[in-house]
Amino acid sequence: IDELLSEGVAGKRVFVRADLNVPLADGLITDDGRIRAVLPTVKALADAGAKVVVASHLGRPKGAPDPAFSLLPAAERLGELLGAPVAFAQDTVGPAAHDAVDGLQPGQVAVIENLRFNSGETAKDDTERGEFADRLAALADVYVGDGFGAVHRKHASVYDLPARLPHYAGYLIATEVGVLRKLTADVRRPYAVVLGGAKVSDKLAVIDELLGKADRLLIGGGMAYTFLKAKGYEVGGSLLQEDQIPAVTEYLERAEKNGVELLLPVDVLVGPEFPDLKTKAPANPSTVAADAIPEGRLGLDIGPATRKLYASKLADAGTVFWNGPMGVFEHPDYAEGTKEVAQALVDSPGFTVVGGGDSAAAVRTLGFDESAFGHISTGGGASLEYLEGKTLPGLAALED
Ligand code: 3PG
Repeated sequence: IDELLSEGVAGKRVFVRADLNVPLADGLITDDGRIRAVLPTVKALADAGAKVVVASHLGRPKGAPDPAFSLLPAAERLGELLGAPVAFAQDTVGPAAHDAVDGLQPGQVAVIENLRFNSGETAKDDTERGEFADRLAALADVYVGDGFGAVHRKHASVYDLPARLPHYAGYLIATEVGVLRKLTADVRRPYAVVLGGAKVSDKLAVIDELLGKADRLLIGGGMAYTFLKAKGYEVGGSLLQEDQIPAVTEYLERAEKNGVELLLPVDVLVGPEFPDLKTKAPANPSTVAADAIPEGRLGLDIGPATRKLYASKLADAGTVFWNGPMGVFEHPDYAEGTKEVAQALVDSPGFTVVGGGDSAAAVRTLGFDESAFGHISTGGGASLEYLEGKTLPGLAALED
């Protein structure tokens, strides 16, 4: 983007593909980190006199307008953060979008409606995606890719549109890639990776890759129970992906062979049911050993001994990457595991990276100061796929 700015953008229409896919509850944004993350790019372009057209997806609407997934709350928040009015177009490539863009003065910003209200955005078919990209291209003279959270998607606005316009990477993408590079080349050891979140199936590829790279793998969250089951423990009513047991068993064996310390919870907090996240009514959990989860109980957080163990494994790490909460942190009775892992990253002398929508949101909603971490990524799936060593369509499209 610095190259673009030095060439001059005054009066030019610049399309900024952002990732404003923020969590919403009852129409209110619960974590605006992704909006704040794109501000440097939007501000720099506006200050240089560009007519800035910001576009993003939000959630997974079904290729047609759906008010539940409107980008309006994100556009309003962007305006508040910029301290300047932001125009909002109620369609994406229709008359409202053209009117909004035509009405921009140099230095002004417009947001167009959710890209996924059009089936062409996510279409598998190249022609359909290409047709939608043509319509998006008609709104702009230049493309800036800055939606790091979506670079792993081969979508029209991420992959096809940059091929149709002069294209540049924004500040956020440049920063994210710079950080993730440090985790793949010349990593400072010991390299510890903490993985959590609900499903082990989402993490298989990254575990596979990390078994050749990391020194320690610390497992928590819902995915831990499939590992515990693979070790032969009963897991009661805990989340379990039976079909993944063979893969997980192979990982346990490979970790041992490769000398990777793969750590599983030694104790867990269990409750009779999934807690009510709306009322946050007390859940009265109890602590049990990981090999003694009673029938009819669900594991919902890592226990105190595990927290201590995991903190000790991060205390002397040279590099830490963390993706995925350790438990149902949205409920105060099951937040401690996630909190203590976050605190262990803060206390670690190493370079610490929080990756992933949920863990990044957890860190902020649990009240941690963002500057206490080396980097908080805006990419969930995107940062994992980067670490898997995959080619990411949205980065490839900017590189050529
Ligand atoms: C994310 O939340 O990881 C990104 O915004 C991508 O969203 P998606 O998984 O719906 O493509």
